Amino acid sequence: MIKIANSCLTLHLSQQRHKQILQLSYQTKKMKNVLIIGSTGQIGSELTMKLRSIYGSNNVIAGYIPGAEPKGELAESGPAEIVDITNAQQIADAVEKYKIDTIYNLAALLSAVAESKPLLAWKIGIGGLMNVLEVAREKHCAVFTPSSIGSFGPNAPKDGTPQDTIQQPKTMYGVTKVTGELLSNYYFTKFGVDTRSVRFPGLISYVTPPGGGTTDYAVDIYYAAVQGKPFSCPVKEGTFMDMMYMPDALRAAIEIMEANPDRLIHRNSFNIASMSFDPVIIYNKIKEYVPDFVMNYELDPLRQAIADSWPNSLDDTCARLEWDWKPEYDLDAMTRDMLEKLRIKFGIK
Ligand code: SER
Repeated sequence: MIKIANSCLTLHLSQQRHKQILQLSYQTKKMKNVLIIGSTGQIGSELTMKLRSIYGSNNVIAGYIPGAEPKGELAESGPAEIVDITNAQQIADAVEKYKIDTIYNLAALLSAVAESKPLLAWKIGIGGLMNVLEVAREKHCAVFTPSSIGSFGPNAPKDGTPQDTIQQPKTMYGVTKVTGELLSNYYFTKFGVDTRSVRFPGLISYVTPPGGGTTDYAVDIYYAAVQGKPFSCPVKEGTFMDMMYMPDALRAAIEIMEANPDRLIHRNSFNIASMSFDPVIIYNKIKEYVPDFVMNYELDPLRQAIADSWPNSLDDTCARLEWDWKPEYDLDAMTRDMLEKLRIKFGIK
């Protein structure tokens, strides 16, 4: 009895403490002024809205490039500025104008596009990151720059790829991601810039489609299923990759920037994971809810080669230990939500 009572008391106290921490962190959150570079992209369009709901609409600035202007809710809900990541002055001006303390650097070319435009991938991924880091150093900003499962290559362990292991990617995308991790760590140790990051898996969302990624098929497959179309899969059976539902990915990007720095042993970049599947597994899962759904294969050699060089699944123990990372969506929960939201989007009953 005594034991139970004590453990309840401990639980009660820890709940109280948790509340205090949340309140504290809420107060900290209120003070943030955030610039998002690449706010109209796959991640940016949703992260901007989420950050505005936490830190206040006027404190989250949507940076965009001409031709990719914010639209609809994104445009109406808060300030926007032209911020081309290859233009250091534009970054510095926006940081100065809005007294920015945190930069989310989401400008990048995805893996398959980066293979066809390697120079541009480097210019944006590394030239752009250097601009961000330099502005952050001068103006004391924290910086989030996503890395990826693509930062590993064929020499890393395939299953349960550890946090710290060989990173010898064979793609330009991966080369920019590893370099970005190293540069971000360098700016932290050398200049004290508060750089933090996660290695994103393939991200799945019903809001803004990705473009030119290797994991895009896992988004496209849902669009086909709700529209009653057969799906042509570009990667073959048995090709396992880590994937994640966007709400978990957004939470990861926010929680790592909110994490207590004293607990962080790693910074750039943390493995995070929630599910790993191959085309057959996701197809069978969708078929549970769309029984007449049909999938065939039309292999894309470039995407297949990229996928073959990436891990099957990452070990995210360090993220769990150092900042309490925990995903909420598994394949089933994601599939139900994706199908429901896409049906609403397309007006399908
Ligand atoms: N989703 C990315 C891609 O496929 C991987 O990080 O390029």
